[in-house]
Amino acid sequence: MPELLLMVGHVGAGKTTHATSLAAATGAVRLSPDEWMGPLFGASDPDGKRDVLEGRLVWTAVEILQAGTSVILDFGLWGRDERRSLAWLAGTIGATPRTIYVDVDRDTQAVRVAQRWRETPDRTWPFTQAELDEWRTFLDVPDADELAGRYDLLAPDEGWETWLARRWPTALGPGPDRRPGHSPSAS
Ligand SMILES: Nc1ncnc2c1ncn2[C@@H]1O[C@H](COP(=O)(O)OP(=O)(O)OP(=O)(O)O)[C@@H](O)[C@H]1O
Ligand SMILES: [Mg+2]
Repeated sequence: MPELLLMVGHVGAGKTTHATSLAAATGAVRLSPDEWMGPLFGASDPDGKRDVLEGRLVWTAVEILQAGTSVILDFGLWGRDERRSLAWLAGTIGATPRTIYVDVDRDTQAVRVAQRWRETPDRTWPFTQAELDEWRTFLDVPDADELAGRYDLLAPDEGWETWLARRWPTALGPGPDRRPGHSPSAS
C-alpha cells in the first residue's frame, strides 16, 4: 500500500532535508510548498494563496497515491487536526498515513535558520527570533500513538470532508475531466 508521509516540525527543523533523503531512498514523491510559493509569488503566503497551493498539492498527492506511489507532504503540519484530516483522506483511498516528526531545539533551530538564510536566500525567507519563538508554541507535537500510526480519526461535527475543504480550499476540488472526448488531444 502506498504511504502518505506527513512531515511535521518547526521552521528550519530539517523537514525538507529529511524529506529529500526519504524520497531518494524510497521513490516517494516529495511535495514542498516553499518550492512553489517562491517562484510563483516571491513570498511565503501572500493573500492566503499558500492554503490554495497546498490544497492543490493535497489533490495531487491523492492522484499520485491512487497511481500506487507514496507521497511525502512537506508542509509543516503543526496542527493535530491537519494530520488527522489527512490521515482520514489517505484511508479513503487505501493509503497508509505516517507522521514523521523532525524535532529541533530552540538554539539549533536559530543556527539552522540563520545559516540557511546566509547560504540559500533564494530558497527561504528571513525570520526574526520573536517569530520563531511564537511559532514554536503553535505546533501540536505528535504523541506516541500518532507516531506509531494510530490516528484518532473521530470526525469533527462538520465531518472531515468539510473540515479539510475549509482548511485547504481546492484540496478536494475537481480534477481533470477524463471522460471520453474530454482529453486535451480530443478537443
Ligand atoms: N540534521 C541536520 N544537521 C545539520 N543541519 C541540518 C540538518 N537538517 C537540516 N539542516 C540544515 O538546516 C537548515 C534548515 O533545513 P530545512 O530547510 O530542511 O528545514 P525545514 O524544516 O524544511 O524548514 P522550513 O520549515 O522553513 O521548510 C538547512 O540549511 C539545512 O541544510
Ligand atoms: Mg522546508
